[in-house]
Amino acid sequence: MSEYRFITVKKLNETQASGELIRLAREIARHDALYHGKDAPEISDADYDSLRKRNEEIEARFPALVRPDSPTGKVGSAPSSGFVKVSHAKPMLSLDNAFNGDDVHEFVGRVKRFLNLSDQDDLALMAEPKIDGLSASLRYEKGILVQGLTRGDGKVGENITVNLKTIEDIPKKLVSHDLLAVLPDVVEIRGEVYMAKEDFFALNEHQEKAGKPPFANPRNAAAGSLRQLDSRITADRRLRFFAYGWGETSEGFGDTQQACFRQMQEWGFIINDLAVVCDGAQAAIDHYQKIGEKRETLSYDIDGVVYKVNRLDLQDRLGMVARAPRWAIAHKFPAEKARTKLLSVDYQVGRTGVITPVARLEPVTVGGVVVSNATLHNADEIARLGLKIGDEVIIQRAGDVIPQVVEVAKTTEDSQPIIFPETCPSCDSHLEREEGEVAWRCSGGLICPAQRVERLRHFVARNAFDIDGLGKKQIEFFFNEGMIESPADIFTLEGKDAEGLTRLKNRDGWGDLSVKNLWAAIEAKRVMGMDRFLFALGIHHIGQQNARLLCLNYLNIKSFMAAVHAAQDAESDAYEELLNIDGVGPKVADTLISFFAEPHNRQVLDHLLAQVTVVDFVAPDMGASPVAGKVVVFTGSLEKMTRQEAKASAEKLGAKVSGSVSKKTDIVIAGPGAGSKLKKAIDLGVKTMTEDEWLDLIGTT
Ligand code: IVH
Repeated sequence: MSEYRFITVKKLNETQASGELIRLAREIARHDALYHGKDAPEISDADYDSLRKRNEEIEARFPALVRPDSPTGKVGSAPSSGFVKVSHAKPMLSLDNAFNGDDVHEFVGRVKRFLNLSDQDDLALMAEPKIDGLSASLRYEKGILVQGLTRGDGKVGENITVNLKTIEDIPKKLVSHDLLAVLPDVVEIRGEVYMAKEDFFALNEHQEKAGKPPFANPRNAAAGSLRQLDSRITADRRLRFFAYGWGETSEGFGDTQQACFRQMQEWGFIINDLAVVCDGAQAAIDHYQKIGEKRETLSYDIDGVVYKVNRLDLQDRLGMVARAPRWAIAHKFPAEKARTKLLSVDYQVGRTGVITPVARLEPVTVGGVVVSNATLHNADEIARLGLKIGDEVIIQRAGDVIPQVVEVAKTTEDSQPIIFPETCPSCDSHLEREEGEVAWRCSGGLICPAQRVERLRHFVARNAFDIDGLGKKQIEFFFNEGMIESPADIFTLEGKDAEGLTRLKNRDGWGDLSVKNLWAAIEAKRVMGMDRFLFALGIHHIGQQNARLLCLNYLNIKSFMAAVHAAQDAESDAYEELLNIDGVGPKVADTLISFFAEPHNRQVLDHLLAQVTVVDFVAPDMGASPVAGKVVVFTGSLEKMTRQEAKASAEKLGAKVSGSVSKKTDIVIAGPGAGSKLKKAIDLGVKTMTEDEWLDLIGTT
């Protein structure tokens, strides 16, 4: 096969071409790895370019031979496994959303209540456009850009330093005008990488001329350009950067958001010129209106306005919930709407059996994106809309949210009623609906193939096991082939494949490289954190937040499972302890208990635990906290902080806040007016203290 490399593209026959494409894919992947991963290229840029060019020319002559692992295919969607994963020193948070003025007033009210401010007190907010791009974190050590990461899942991002360095707006070295000023040892600047509208249009024109598919919007174009394994492609696409935040810093560089922006500007970053400080909710909403009016004329896409509490000491006190700060919110622009026709309705079966009707639509462009499906939520929604097949409908799309049908614009005489199925479209089991619920569910449970596939998809999803190369398509493939039926099968796949008669790598769509990468991606997940592990099980009500709450309380999977098992007895201490976790109510407790009591689930878990090591949970941020792991109860009224702030600050230090006093309680913090809980604590000999003593203990006074 190796002699084929000397044959000109024009003279290659089909067999030779196919051999050459295999060789080139491997060769180019190897050079990519040498260049990016090891910073040690073996060939010159020109030689590398000619390899890519030859590959493209062969593909153009033999389109049917284009391989799934084609290096050309990677343009616009580099595989994530090509970048090295790196943990963020501080998590990259997301934002909660506000959709109208009331939501914004509520946000400000919430912040003030948390901080114990009165309605009349001032609260300065920084209001700035929400840029529709991709966030990145840039690490500077002694003023030098040493690392640039994508957001990833917020905790772990990908190292795209080389690509970020090609962006002109990103300083490679921080500027210091004041010669005496010392640059910080460490500062991570965060912001949004985006593509300006004019550069996006130019790029698409170029793509079309080259016979390549255009990008749907500037955001996708920016993402495709940034995540290139070949940084020369990134450099060719003009990307820009607005700075709006920071991660780890060795020292503070301002007391307010505004002061920090000024310093960032001094260092050489571009701060959006529509960022202004507003006094309170109404002023912020007025600024939002102003930005909204300008939206069309801006040279970049925005999808809302972000409000941030200006004072950093207040931001600190407010802290975060789940994955978003309490001190910021994104006020989104209203959804964009369009009119189209309802062609038919399909029914999808979710992980817990919920049947979701999906509208198939005549394709229509909404806010720059072509939409051909929209969710109809449930049977009641179809009835509420009075929807029929053949109707003209109004659909809307907001941000990354799934498009929705909002109303019927026109019905016709030929429109046909929508008949909701009585049995599951996947397993034919009958559908049932619990009292008070809107959703119809498939009663097939464990035998329903659709539910099983959805559970497997959840298991490997981004916030769960996050296995690269195991997406929807691959899970369906392995399930249909009988190769993966339960999560444990994922980890025995390689062994079974090696014994099998038809090896995976000989199958359609599977190349040598993709199979090898898959085995490596699976192997990498044999050791898993307890929070992701619990979330991955897909137990009803156990989302990421509840999974973490359980981890914080039980710390390792063994004690957790033993406790849930013991909690089957409603009179047991274990049951009381479970219920005592602030945030776990009887609904969550009962779901957990019945999940772990179900023999099939236990079997699935046993098999899985034979393959995977679950790492004990280490509560973050505990440091030398004197209250880490302690169970604390607040009672009576607090004077220095609100109950919510007290709870949040205790949890931040690794304490478990409980709603009731028991033998397991370590400390009861009692304010004026404390009653029965204080009495019970004294009776049980539990340590009690005042609010001031507590603040002393945690070092906040
Ligand atoms: S602040 C803790 N400011 O929006 C603060 N984010 O929905 C988190 N974004 O991942 C970010 N413009 O990619 C902030 N002016 C802005 C922003 C902005 C765009 C993005 C960012 C973030 C996402 C959260």
